Amino acid sequence: MRVLAIESSCDESAAAVLDERAGLIAHGIFSQVDLHRIYGGVVPELASRDHVHRLLPLVRDVLAEAERTGPGRAIDGVAYTAGPGLIGALLTGAALARSLAFAWDVPAIGVHHLEGHLLAPLLEAEAPPFPHVALLVSGGHTMLIEVGGIGRYRVLGASRDDAAGEAFDKSAKLLGLPYPGGPQLAALAATGRAGAISFPRPMLDRPGLEFSFSGLKTAVLHAVRAAPLTEARRADIARGVEDAIVDTLIGKALRALEASGLDVLVVSGGVSANHSLRERLTAAARRAGARVYYPRLEFSTDNAAMIAVAGLARLQAGEHEPLAIGARAQWPLESLPPVEAAGSVTAARKQP
Ligand code: KG4
Ligand code: ZN
Repeated sequence: MRVLAIESSCDESAAAVLDERAGLIAHGIFSQVDLHRIYGGVVPELASRDHVHRLLPLVRDVLAEAERTGPGRAIDGVAYTAGPGLIGALLTGAALARSLAFAWDVPAIGVHHLEGHLLAPLLEAEAPPFPHVALLVSGGHTMLIEVGGIGRYRVLGASRDDAAGEAFDKSAKLLGLPYPGGPQLAALAATGRAGAISFPRPMLDRPGLEFSFSGLKTAVLHAVRAAPLTEARRADIARGVEDAIVDTLIGKALRALEASGLDVLVVSGGVSANHSLRERLTAAARRAGARVYYPRLEFSTDNAAMIAVAGLARLQAGEHEPLAIGARAQWPLESLPPVEAAGSVTAARKQP
C-alpha cells in the first residue's frame, strides 16, 4: 500500500508519500514562519489562506518524486490531519485530501495529529518497541502517555495549563526574541551560564505526573524587570528557563517509567528537537536503565511523514472515512480505536 499524507493543522504545510515496502519515498514542507513573524504568533486566518496556496504544489512535488522513484505506482489511500488544531487550517488539508481520494477512488483517513507525533519514531531505522512510555512535548500539548500499541494510548499525566513549547515561546517573547521563540531561546541559552538565574521547577517537588508551566512566565517577567537587561543577563535568563523546563520534563518522564514499570521512552513533538533535552534525558534514562527514542530532528516538529505513518497503519487495518469533509479542533487522544494488525507498518521504517 502507498499513501499520500497531508498536514495543515497549524503553521506548516506538508505532504509526504509513504510506501509499506519501500518506506518514505518523498516528503516536503513549507513553513509559514516568515508570514506570522511580524504578528508575534500564528494568525489562524492567514495560516488557512496560505495553506490553500502551498498544499497543492507540495502534493504535486511529492507525487512527482514518487513517480520518479517508482513509475506507474498508484496512490492507494490518502491520509490527512483531521485534528486537533486550527479548524480553518485543518479544513484546507481535509478538503484537498478528500477531493483527491474521491477523484482517485481510494479511501481517505483523518489522522489525529498527536498520534502522528507519537508514531514519528517508527520512521527511523531503529524503531521503539511497544509497549513504551511517550513524552509528547509540542506547542499545544505536554503529556506522558503509556503506549501499548498503535491506537492504544493511556494518558498518565498532562499539563494543567501551558504546554512546554508554550512556556518556551512565552518566555522567549518576554526576552524580546522573535517568533517562533522555542528554538531562538534555546540558541540564546547555549551562551548563558548554568545556575546564574534559577527558576522554579514546576511541580517537580509534588507527586504525580501532571505538569504546570504557567507560573514560569511570571517568574521570567520578574527576572526581566529586576535588573538591566544586558545581553549577558538575557542569556542567563534563557539558560535558567531552558534548564527549569528540561529538569521538569526529565523528572516527570523518569517518574512515569518507574510508575509504569516500562524501560522504553519515546520523546516526540516540537520540543523534542531541543538539544539540551535530548542530551540530558538520554543520559538520565541510561542511568535509570531505560532507552530513549526520538524522531530525527526534521520529524520532531510538524511534518506529513508522521501523518503518513499513522494513516498507513489505519488504512492497512481497513479504516476509512465516510464521504464528508470534516475536521476537529479538539479530539481526545484516548478516544481513538486501537489498530489490531499494526505489524506491517514497521516496513515503513525503511529509508529511500
Ligand atoms: O510539534 P510542533 O511543531 O507543533 C505543535 O504541534 O504544536 O511544536 C512546536 C513547538 C513550539 O512551541 C516551538 O517553540 C517548540 O516546539 N520548539 C522548540 C524547539 N524547536 C521547536 N522548543 C525548544 N527548543 C527547540 N529546539
Ligand atoms: Zn505538532
